[in-house]
Amino acid sequence: MGNRKIGMWLYQNGGGDKIQEKLIKQLKQRDIDVIADINLRNAIAKNGHILYDGIKLDKLDLFFSYNAGEQTQYQMYLYKALNHVIPMINSYDAFELTEDKFHTSFLLRRNKIQTADYKLCHRDDTHHLQEIMKKWSKMVYKPTDGWGGVGLTKIENRETLDMLIPFLNQMDLRYFYVEKFIDYDNTDYRVDIVDGQYVACYGRKASEGSWKTNITSGGSVFVREPNDDVINLALKAVKVTGLDIAGVDIIYDRKKEEYIVLEVNGIPAFATPEQEKLGLDFNDKKIELIANLIDKKTKK
Ligand SMILES: Nc1ncnc2c1ncn2[C@@H]1O[C@H](COP(=O)(O)OP(=O)(O)O)[C@@H](O)[C@H]1O
Ligand SMILES: [Mg+2]
Repeated sequence: MGNRKIGMWLYQNGGGDKIQEKLIKQLKQRDIDVIADINLRNAIAKNGHILYDGIKLDKLDLFFSYNAGEQTQYQMYLYKALNHVIPMINSYDAFELTEDKFHTSFLLRRNKIQTADYKLCHRDDTHHLQEIMKKWSKMVYKPTDGWGGVGLTKIENRETLDMLIPFLNQMDLRYFYVEKFIDYDNTDYRVDIVDGQYVACYGRKASEGSWKTNITSGGSVFVREPNDDVINLALKAVKVTGLDIAGVDIIYDRKKEEYIVLEVNGIPAFATPEQEKLGLDFNDKKIELIANLIDKKTKK
């Protein structure tokens, strides 16, 4: 019987190329061959097969997709088709779910996991927003498919909301998703989970005058030990989403005096070389857990 063979598409920036090398080496030691850099953008589907550079992707034992920067509709379309016939990490269903903030919050809350209170309404039902504004006093408008803090808008009073609505109406959206603005200390926990196991945690802090902890919005990372509540909350949230690899963003709600899940990410970045210098030293552990997971999922 020949070696197992998997396809891989991993981001190359921020040290991703080095991570890929290490992961391929770990897989080799487990007798798993890797075809790397398979960008579904360049694949085609033809009759019963998905072809990339003469390779039938549907014959692979698994496909590992880990590139947050480039997920176009076409790639997602093929991701879904491919996952009907071979295992993928993350699974299409789990990944698609967590790409959407409303669907994720909805499912988390159904499973009794604390999140920010939210409301989703049809674009024509803006009176719901005005109503809830009275109750919440401050809220955050979020695009349901955004990342990096882009497009998040804090609404602090009725006037801001009235100003924002015509603007949102111009954007041809079908619905509005808003969350109650959480009173927190402008820091969060990012908890990394692989295969239901805790890998690591670090903190992020918003820059002076900002309420967003995203690095792309000026936030910075710091070494941060989680307590058991934070770890258990992250583990529970990931279980509900079905992600094999996840990064859970958690903040502490000072009003309710409890931790809440802000977001579950399906492609949490490895520590960059600069972050490793700051003391974020989980990359090797994460690579090993991912190699073990791929090994497990491809066992014949
Ligand atoms: N409901 C909220 N209350 C207060 N701050 C929030 C809230 N939601 C998000 N934030 C801040 O905005 C950042 C980005 O929000 P998030 O939902 O994770 O979207 P993104 O996918 O853009 O990262 C968070 O890291 C947090 O700092
Ligand atoms: Mg986030």
